[in-house]
Amino acid sequence: MKELTTAKRAAREAGRLLLSYFGNLKDIQFKSGRRDPVSEADKASEALIAGIIKDVFPTHGFLAEEKTAWEGDGGIWIVDPLDGTVNYSHGFPCFCVSIAYERDGEVLVGIVHDPVRREIFHAVKGKGAFLNGKSLNVSKTPKLANSLLVTGFPYDIDQHADKILRLFNKMTLASQGMRRLGSAALDLCYIAAGRFDGYWEFGLKPWDTAAGSLIVTEAGGRITALDGGPFHFMDSSEILVSNGKIHGEMAKKLAE
Ligand code: IPD
Ligand code: CA
Ligand code: CA
Repeated sequence: MKELTTAKRAAREAGRLLLSYFGNLKDIQFKSGRRDPVSEADKASEALIAGIIKDVFPTHGFLAEEKTAWEGDGGIWIVDPLDGTVNYSHGFPCFCVSIAYERDGEVLVGIVHDPVRREIFHAVKGKGAFLNGKSLNVSKTPKLANSLLVTGFPYDIDQHADKILRLFNKMTLASQGMRRLGSAALDLCYIAAGRFDGYWEFGLKPWDTAAGSLIVTEAGGRITALDGGPFHFMDSSEILVSNGKIHGEMAKKLAE
């Protein structure tokens, strides 16, 4: 499938580019505030991916975090050129490239590439999820009390700090362990790989979740809004993700 091979090539090239800037950033600016950096690496990665997609699929649309966008026919590419910029800007090696191809509101191809660990997660709608070519399945952990959970904090955490930290405290006590990686796309892929059992977050954007959401569902995981209602990557900013088995328990705890 040409969309899959092109997305993989773009993700690999962008991953190499990110490694070349890693630890050598010269230009860090801030978008909505001090928690929301953007660097020359984010922009160069986006330009590289946009160039490849435009070249191979000139009629498709494109939407990326650093504002490269155009309309088109036959589907839209949704791209986070560097997910985990806060980590990246501190030299903390936990970040990735996320590329999704959607048509008629459905993600058909998702790629998430972590160049540090040389991990490429991919999924094609109806064909399963894979890590470096090996089939992925979510965990079988049956109970929240035995689960390893992950979450993330939105850039505007100051405005909802009480609620977000209250849920963080509650889920920390209800689970076996709680982690906070700083890359939403990797959080999703780690659910797909069975490394985490559950994940929730507020304030996400389509480029954070488009690719990873397909990878999770193709690995047998479940994704809903926080209240258990339907999730759609284009317009849901809140997400609840799990191996399916602990979903009800998580939704109930988060709603208490
Ligand atoms: C951020 C990361 C982080 C999440 C934020 C995202 P960025 O993306 O995914 O884990 O908590 O909400 O915005 O800005 O590094 O691409
Ligand atoms: Ca992101
Ligand atoms: Ca980003």
